[in-house]
Amino acid sequence: MTRSKADTPAMKAIILAGGSGRRLYPVTLTVNKHLLPIYNKPMIYYPLSLVMLMGIREVLLVVNPQDLQDFQRLFGDGSHLGMRIAYTVQPEPRGLAEGLVLGAEFLAGAPVCYVLGDNVFFGHALPDLLREARRTVEQEGGALVFGYPVKDPQRFGVVEFDETGRVRSLEEKPEHPKSNFAVVGLYLYDAEAPAIARTVRPSARNELEITEVNRAYLRRGRLRVRLLGRGFAWFDAGTHDSFLEAGEFVATIERRTGTMIGCIEEIAFLNGWIGREDLRRLARPLENTEYGRYLLELAER
Ligand code: DAU
Repeated sequence: MTRSKADTPAMKAIILAGGSGRRLYPVTLTVNKHLLPIYNKPMIYYPLSLVMLMGIREVLLVVNPQDLQDFQRLFGDGSHLGMRIAYTVQPEPRGLAEGLVLGAEFLAGAPVCYVLGDNVFFGHALPDLLREARRTVEQEGGALVFGYPVKDPQRFGVVEFDETGRVRSLEEKPEHPKSNFAVVGLYLYDAEAPAIARTVRPSARNELEITEVNRAYLRRGRLRVRLLGRGFAWFDAGTHDSFLEAGEFVATIERRTGTMIGCIEEIAFLNGWIGREDLRRLARPLENTEYGRYLLELAER
């Protein structure tokens, strides 16, 4: 059924920032992975900046019980960014699909941009692409996910296409991947997603897999896959190597261009969600850093 935008509530976002972080041990034995720095800012800034670029102001963070206070200290209620940031606790890291169930009340029938807290994206015209994807799901329903070519697809959800470019299969961490296209950690779903997630049963590795939610949309003929081409960079910063690579990438681009990736205060300002004086106020405590000076310069421009 095609719905007009008028009857669909605006898209909200859920960012997953729980999990065990086991692949980053011993670093994450005592610190939550998403609070570690990717170059000059906490990892969680990157997925948050992505949803802000999509124009989404209402965000739910799914966090571990022991880390809730740290996230609240970092973001509060989000009002300093002109946003509404809420929190929900995931008692155990039972898998990605569970965040949709935990977030059902927050969503209250709205479509959702569902983002993994350890994913970092960069690319030309990315905001345009994301806003278009948002519009598509808000207006037409269904699900929309992104594929990205990688050398090690067995680490990810993998999407296979037939000769005509239609999706043939989706598999989670297959031993023998049927393509080299990984499904990245950014999923756009209509209001059906929480109900679908409730039907997901634990996988062989005992996790509620997000790939099962995507498969359910595929079975209904309601899954779209957009490919991110060579002009995009995507990192899943969940291992020591990919964590380092993401940080090096961000540092290289930022030093070369003098512009920041994932700078949430900048995006809030450019979106018109906060004013110049608000930006100055946010920058002042950071003024001994490049980050703070960047914000101050932005406020003076
Ligand atoms: O990064 C993309 C990949 O992410 C997809 O291609 C896979 O299909 C998807 O399953 C996922 O695989 P990972 O093995 O990388 O997921 P990971 O366990 O690292 O969790 C992803 C994020 O979600 C991470 O930031 C931690 C958080 N998380 C994870 C689990 C299992 C939660 O908040 N709660 C959880 O229960």
